[in-house]
Amino acid sequence: MSAKIISGKEIAAQIREELKEEVKRLKSDHGVTPGLVTILVGEDPASISYVTAKQKTAHDLGFHSIQDNQPEDISEDDLLALIDKYNNDDSIHGILVQLPLPKHIDDSKVLEAIDPDKDVDGFHPVNVGRMVIGERCFLPCTPHGILEMLIRSGVETSGAEVVVVGRSNIVGKPIANLMIQKRDGGNATVTVCHTRTKDMAFHTKRADILIVAAGRPKVVTADMVKDGVVVIDVGVNRIGKTPEGKAILCGDVDFDAIKEKASAITPVPGGVGPMTITMLMKNTVQAAKQFAGLV
Ligand code: GUN
Repeated sequence: MSAKIISGKEIAAQIREELKEEVKRLKSDHGVTPGLVTILVGEDPASISYVTAKQKTAHDLGFHSIQDNQPEDISEDDLLALIDKYNNDDSIHGILVQLPLPKHIDDSKVLEAIDPDKDVDGFHPVNVGRMVIGERCFLPCTPHGILEMLIRSGVETSGAEVVVVGRSNIVGKPIANLMIQKRDGGNATVTVCHTRTKDMAFHTKRADILIVAAGRPKVVTADMVKDGVVVIDVGVNRIGKTPEGKAILCGDVDFDAIKEKASAITPVPGGVGPMTITMLMKNTVQAAKQFAGLV
């Protein structure tokens, strides 16, 4: 059996069409244009490519979008002052500071300086807290995208054994939390594996749905999964370059071997990545609607 490929690219395109219509209506009926600023500190090539993709999508959807590039040696105080400026700018509804930040800057301090009502990444402790207790909030984009992919692909999560590999604040912890909640894409029984897990394969073999965000290429191999599993691969690993200089990417699972056992699997690229960016846009539209008192 060869798995159904869950195309994040196609699902994201569908959601972007819905958002485009919503942005048009917001402009024509309410005079509101969603505004997004992405702040990039330094010149890390991966961060540049992520931020460029976010800006392009925002622009294509008709947002007011600003790309704010800052030098690697910007002081923490200057970065905090910049965030304060955007917190007080009514044309900006969403603020994203691309991570990772240089070592001399405290990530937590920066993320906590963003107004929670403009925190479209969903990283501010206020939004994290609201997420955990199931209140309305900005959901972090990658876990939000994973839920949408599962729901729109018709994957049953209620009662499913879900195994998450990785315990990051950006993916592992929030997706585990969301999938135990009483909500669409939730009601699952969740296990989280991490670097201190004694026998990872024991857990991954039990999974009906396996979500891998380990940050290392091909850590999950075909012998570690059961027949019929649904695999969501969050990893984006640069494993080389084509002769033309384009990055060669692979995920955190051995896609070619696992697709012969799985019932459904996300590819890399074209899986979770496009969904993450799209959910950032969805959060920004939500922020603009909240700012205008429309929700
Ligand atoms: N770096 C890697 N992923 C993300 C993300 O989702 N948001 C931000 N701000 N930085 C990241």
